[in-house]
Amino acid sequence: MGPARGLLAWFAFGAVALGAIAVSGGVPALLPHRAVLVSAATAGVSRPPGTPLTVVAHRGASADAPENTLPAQRSARAAGAVWIENDVQPSADGVPFVLHDSTVDRTTDGTGSIRRLTSAQLKSLDAGAWFGSAFTGTRVPTLAEQLADLREHGGNLLLEIKGPHTRDEVATIIGVVRAERMSRRVLIQSFDPVALQHSYDLAPDLPLGLLRDELDADPVAVSARLHLAAYNPAGAALMARPSAIADLHRAGVAVLAWTVDSADGWRRLDAAGVDGVITNRPAALIEWIASASPSRPPR
Ligand code: G3P
Ligand code: CA
Repeated sequence: MGPARGLLAWFAFGAVALGAIAVSGGVPALLPHRAVLVSAATAGVSRPPGTPLTVVAHRGASADAPENTLPAQRSARAAGAVWIENDVQPSADGVPFVLHDSTVDRTTDGTGSIRRLTSAQLKSLDAGAWFGSAFTGTRVPTLAEQLADLREHGGNLLLEIKGPHTRDEVATIIGVVRAERMSRRVLIQSFDPVALQHSYDLAPDLPLGLLRDELDADPVAVSARLHLAAYNPAGAALMARPSAIADLHRAGVAVLAWTVDSADGWRRLDAAGVDGVITNRPAALIEWIASASPSRPPR
């Protein structure tokens, strides 16, 4: 179920020797280096003309199952979603776990910061009962467990590095992706440009996406600076300046909008030409796509 990828998985752009680029819009300066870019098409998130938008299940099918758990992932897969979004943070002993909040308080029966809890402590928590009794006993998955489930049963991962991460922490995440043999089915995204820069430095073959609450003045320039395959803004921010989509497409950058759960929002983003929509309601979005263009199944 992986995205179609050719043998040429990346393009070498040659040496960049123009010196450091000034800091702009919270994006750190880059030192001269050999730039390697994974295109949006290669990453499997660009939308060829006439095809339906890509459905990305936000934290899995999080309207139907506890977010960021394997049941939420299975529910999204059963609905037909090909991409799952998650949030990754390390435990106290450095194991990447899948959890959105900085604490476990809201989505488990425990309390405390994820970064202060060991993997054994995290694994002892119930991450399903808060959502519904049918999910009692669900555990907080490790990134490795989530990737293994995707590899064995299908699906790609929009992997969000949540919050600031050190270079070593990003290296650990990449190591897990490699160990699970999922490098070609993962797109790494973050609100933190530094985390993306670490990923690029460590693994330039992995495609990158930048999450934004608001559009940058020049999203294309930011995308080039960070070697992005995808620029991923909040849906409402994007619809305030939808011309940015065509600009990004001309630069070979895909646009994934988050987190949009209404048919009106899907219609407006679809008409504006986004490549994909990140939603808590993947089944409903897939149904909406089928009703809007019944001959073309969602990707
Ligand atoms: O993938 C987009 C979205 O997940 C970003 O916001 O807070 O849900 O991680 P948040
Ligand atoms: Ca997220």
